[in-house]
Amino acid sequence: MKPSKTVVLVYSGGLDTSVCIPFVKEEYGYERVVTVTVDVGQPAEDIREAAEKAKAMGTEHYTVDAKEEFAKDFCFNAVKANAMYEGYPLSTSIARPIIAAKAVEVAKKLGATAFAHGCTGKGNDQFRIEFAIRALMPEAIIHAPIREKNMTRSWEIEYALSKGVPIKQSLAKIWSIDENLWGRSIEGGRLEEPDFAPPEEIFQWTKSPTAAVDKVTELKVAFEGGAPVALNGEKLSPAKLIAAANVLAGENAIGRIDVMEDRMLGLKVRENYECPGSMLLLTAHKALEALVLTRDELRFKTQIDAEWSKLAYEGLWWDPFKEGLEAFIGSTQKRVSGTVTMRLYKGSMTTIGRSSPWALYNEDLASFDTKTFEQNESTGWVKNFGLQSRMYHSLVAKMGAKKGPDA
Ligand code: ARG
Repeated sequence: MKPSKTVVLVYSGGLDTSVCIPFVKEEYGYERVVTVTVDVGQPAEDIREAAEKAKAMGTEHYTVDAKEEFAKDFCFNAVKANAMYEGYPLSTSIARPIIAAKAVEVAKKLGATAFAHGCTGKGNDQFRIEFAIRALMPEAIIHAPIREKNMTRSWEIEYALSKGVPIKQSLAKIWSIDENLWGRSIEGGRLEEPDFAPPEEIFQWTKSPTAAVDKVTELKVAFEGGAPVALNGEKLSPAKLIAAANVLAGENAIGRIDVMEDRMLGLKVRENYECPGSMLLLTAHKALEALVLTRDELRFKTQIDAEWSKLAYEGLWWDPFKEGLEAFIGSTQKRVSGTVTMRLYKGSMTTIGRSSPWALYNEDLASFDTKTFEQNESTGWVKNFGLQSRMYHSLVAKMGAKKGPDA
């Protein structure tokens, strides 16, 4: 296929993606660079800066506001699946498919089929972004200059300086940060050392327990069909609800996560996250599921949720397996409506109440003080419980054999 003259660059405004702007022209021969920055809830000034930089470098720039779609179709799907990978609520992971999808939308409008992104060859984002682009546009040509040319940070800085790429902000940054509505990730510098305690300065969304408000916060999270719909009785749009949850939980020191994470390529890396809102909503959602789903549904769903989380971690957003898992998840979530009361205080988060029209709990059945459930009817059931174990023990006695693995 003859290479097209236009390339769509998935653009964050950081050093890696900024270096790509002159590079795809000079080294890959494109005439027109279109930059796309997708707003999934990163700081407004990052979005503005990206647009300014791109324009200063003469690209045709698009900013796509995808916050509500991201919140509703990505974050809330993660809630329904209790999504968690090695203790991390997948905030970066679930943003990549929508970012790539928006770049594909822009490309389709412009009739472009070539893409570039700034991912390195070590991380997960390269898999997520390239899979999403190819799933939505099979004929796409994708370039990953940083990975393909084995660029190092110092080489990139030198190249950027020689090409007039504005990198002042990038140079001042010690930490590598990725941020969206579902969470904030902080990497780089000494944080890479698994045994280096994260300094307080890396945290922006969460207070430390000692600096948190000295007041108990109780709040109600309402759900409909597995998705959060209101906080303290106030109905909010998905993106606004997550933003409010981030503030409430963050000031109560909820959501700091420090983990060793197994990346797709097998690298073990140390990761720090702040995920106050997502941790709050996920915890409340589980509490409601525990009230309305059957024991078997709950047990089986933990496996479904783990599979969903793995697919989401790998960015396989448009995989048929995911559709199948979501068919099961969706059928359970129809009943996950109701309200959960949470108590937050200096880093602790406790569920202190739950109610639902679909609750399987029945006061009359469970109470000590009623006759609806005739307790004497349990006698035969109890007597025959563990029948096979009992038979085993009588056999052991009869044969005079010793019990246990060393026998
Ligand atoms: N390790 C996390 C993940 O793969 C988050 C990485 C965030 N940083 C980044 N530059 N994308 O989902």
